[in-house]
Amino acid sequence: MKKIDRETVQKILDTADIVDVVSDFVHLKRRGAGYIGLCPFHNERTPSFSVSKSKGICKCFSCGKGGSPVNFLMELEQLSYNDALRYLAKKYNIEIKEHEMTDKEREEATERESMLAVSEFALQHFEHNLTDTDDGRDIGLSYFRERGINDASIKKFRLGYSLEKRDDLLSAAKAKGYNEKYLVGTGLCIQNEGGRTYDRFKGRVMYPIFGVSGKVLAFGGRTLRKDKDVAKYVNSPESTIYRKSYELYGLYQAKQAIVKKDKCILVEGYMDVISMSQSGVENVVASSGTSLTEGQIRLIHRFTENVTVIYDSDPAGIKASLRGIDMLLAEGLNIKVMLLPEGDDPDSFAQSHSTSELEEYLASHEQDFIEFKTKILLQGVENDPVQRSKAITDIVRSISVIPDEITRALYIKECSRRLEIDEKLLTRQVAKKIADQREKDAQQRQRQSARESLSTPSEDSPGVSQLQEESTSSTEKDIVNLSGDTYSRFLQPYEREVLRYVLRYGMLTLCEQCDEDGNAVPMSVLDYVKSELSEEDMKFTDANFAKVFDIAYLKIAPSFDDDYKIFEEQAKKRRSDAIAQGLAQIQASAIDLAEITLREQMLTQQCDEAYIAELTEFSALYMQKTLLSSPDDVVRHITTDLVSEKHVLSKVHTKFTKIETEQDRLADLVPRAIYEWKDAILECQIRDVRARICQATNDKEELHALMSKSMELQQIKRDFAKFLGERIIAPRK
Ligand code: CTP
Ligand code: MN
Repeated sequence: MKKIDRETVQKILDTADIVDVVSDFVHLKRRGAGYIGLCPFHNERTPSFSVSKSKGICKCFSCGKGGSPVNFLMELEQLSYNDALRYLAKKYNIEIKEHEMTDKEREEATERESMLAVSEFALQHFEHNLTDTDDGRDIGLSYFRERGINDASIKKFRLGYSLEKRDDLLSAAKAKGYNEKYLVGTGLCIQNEGGRTYDRFKGRVMYPIFGVSGKVLAFGGRTLRKDKDVAKYVNSPESTIYRKSYELYGLYQAKQAIVKKDKCILVEGYMDVISMSQSGVENVVASSGTSLTEGQIRLIHRFTENVTVIYDSDPAGIKASLRGIDMLLAEGLNIKVMLLPEGDDPDSFAQSHSTSELEEYLASHEQDFIEFKTKILLQGVENDPVQRSKAITDIVRSISVIPDEITRALYIKECSRRLEIDEKLLTRQVAKKIADQREKDAQQRQRQSARESLSTPSEDSPGVSQLQEESTSSTEKDIVNLSGDTYSRFLQPYEREVLRYVLRYGMLTLCEQCDEDGNAVPMSVLDYVKSELSEEDMKFTDANFAKVFDIAYLKIAPSFDDDYKIFEEQAKKRRSDAIAQGLAQIQASAIDLAEITLREQMLTQQCDEAYIAELTEFSALYMQKTLLSSPDDVVRHITTDLVSEKHVLSKVHTKFTKIETEQDRLADLVPRAIYEWKDAILECQIRDVRARICQATNDKEELHALMSKSMELQQIKRDFAKFLGERIIAPRK
C-alpha cells in the first residue's frame, strides 16, 4: 500500500488555486475583489457562490458549502482526501511522490483501507468470473440475458458471478497476498468454529454495493436456484467499511442524474434500479428491501430535496411503509409517491415498456404524499368514526414532523378541505403534536446529558484534560457542571465567535505585553486568547471547538516563527528586486535630478507598503491555510465554516467615512468576544445556583451559602454589563 509523501502533499496544497479549481465546475464572474457564480451544491438562479483568490477559499452563502480546493473537491465530487489530492496533482502536473509504507505505517494503515482493497479485488474477481469462465457465462451471464440486462448495464453496475466452489475467492485472494483477516472482516469469507475459512458467496450472481465515492463496500448475491430452502439473497454483513443504514444501492451510479433532474426515485430492489436505469431513468436508488433509515435520507438530501417513492400496488406493503416516509418528511424533503399498475414492480414495468412510455408514466402518476396517505388511510372507513379519527391522528402526525412552517400550513389547509374538518382544529392538533414531541425530545436530551456527566471525560485531547486538571477549587467545580448539554448549547455561539477570531487572525499581533525585563513584546490573538482561557479556567465545552483550538495552539502555532522568517527573507528579496528594477527604469527614463529623487521616493514607499502588506497577509492566513486543508474532517469543516462566514467579508462604516475592517479593530473585538463568553458562563452559573436554591429546601446552611454565591455572581455580572455596555457606547481606541 502506498502513501503520498508529505512534501508532495504540501506542494499540491501550495499550488492549487481556488479560482482555477472551481472554474472547472462553475462559471465564475469577477465581482469586486473576488469571484462569484452559481452554487454547484444546490440549485439556484441568482449566484451566491463566492470565491476568494487571496484567501484560497470558496463558499456558498446560501447553503454554506465550500472551503479550500481540497474540501471543495471532496464535497462536490465525493472524493476521499487522498483522491482529492491526486486529482489536484494531475491537474497541475505535479508528480506524486509516494513510498511503499514502512512496517510501522503499514501497521497504522487503517483496517479500513485493507478492507477496501480486498473488496475491490473481489469485485474484479466476480466480474472476471462472469465473462471469462464457462460457468460464469453459462449460468450467470445467461441469467442476466434472460432478465433483459444488457452489457452496458452489466458494466455500469459492475455485475459479477461467484463460482459454485468452497474457496474460489479465498484462494485467488490469498494467492495475490491479501490477508485472510480482511476477507473475513469484510464478510467475503466466513470462518467457522473449527477455524476453517470458506467463501460466503457461492454460485450467485453478484451485485456490488458502492459508497458515494465509488468504492465497493459490500455485495448482494442472488441465487439462481428455484428451491425454497435456499435464501434468495445473501448480503455482506455490516463491517468497518459497510454500514448498511448509511448506504443506498445505486447511488454512486445515480448521483449525477439525481442532481441534474433534482429528484431521486426510490425503489426496493437491485433489479429495479438496474432495469430503470437501463431504460434511461437513471436517478434511481434502492433501500435494498429494508425500510429507509435516517442516514440514507441524509444521503439523499445531499443531492436533492425531491424524492419520489415507487410502490408496487400491494396495499398491505404500502401501509407498512407509510411510517418510514414520515422520516423523509421530517428531514424536510418533498415527497411524492407513485403506484405502478397492479402486478408490476419497477423492474417488470421498465422491461415491458419503452423508455418514452416509462417517462410518460412517471411524469403523470406522481401524487403528493400527504394526499396519498390521506386517501389510503380513509379508503373504506369514511363512515366509521373510530377508524376515521385514527386515520386523522395519523395524518396529523405526518404533518407535524414537517420542519417548514409554511409547508405545514399548506398541508393543513389541504387536509381540512379533503377531510372536511375545521382548519383551526387541525392547526391546534398539529401544534399540540409538535409541543408533545418537543417535550419528549427535551426529556431524552436530559437523560442523555445525565448519562454523559456520569461518564468520564475523554482522554484523547491533551489540551482539554490539561485545562480540567488545572481547574481551581473543588467547590467552584461542583457549583457548576459546565459539561451539561444545555449549558454547552447555550455557550456554543460565544465559543464559536472566539474560535473564529483565532482561526481568522490567530497569528496577527493583538497588543503588546511586557516581558520579565520590561521590554514590550507583541502578543498574538492566539496567545491572548490562550492566556485568558488559562487565567480564568475557561475551556471550550464544545468538543470539536476544543479539538480545533488545541490543534491550532499545539500544532500550528509552534511552526509559525520559522516559517515566517523564511517568508520574510523571500519578501525582502522581492522588495529589493522590485526596487532595483524600478530604479533602473527611472534612470533610463527620467529627465532631471528632481524628478529622479521624487520618483525614487515614491518607488521605495510603494515597495515598502507592498512588503508590509505581504507579511501581514502571510500572518493573517497562516492559521487557516493549514487547517482548511487538514485531512481531519472535523477540523476542515469547522475551519471552513468559521473563516468564511458572510459577515467577515463586510466592512464596518464609521462616522468618519473611513472604512475599517474587522482586522483593524481586533484590539476591541477580541477582548470583547472573550468578555461576552465569560458573561455567558456567568449566566449559566447563576441559573445553576438558582436551580440548586429551588432544590435545597431543608438545609439552611446550604441555602445560605447558595444565596450568597448567587448574590456574588449577580454582582460580577452587573460589573460585566457595565463594562460591556461602556464598550458599546464608547469604543476604546
Ligand atoms: N432482499 C434481501 N434479502 C432477501 C430478499 C430481498 O436483501 N432475502 C433485498 C434485496 O436488496 C432485493 C430487495 O430486497 O433487491 C427486494 O427484494 P425482492 O423484491 O424479493 O427482490 P428483487 O430485487 O426484486 O429480485 P428479483 O427481481 O431478482 O427477484
Ligand atoms: Mn423483482
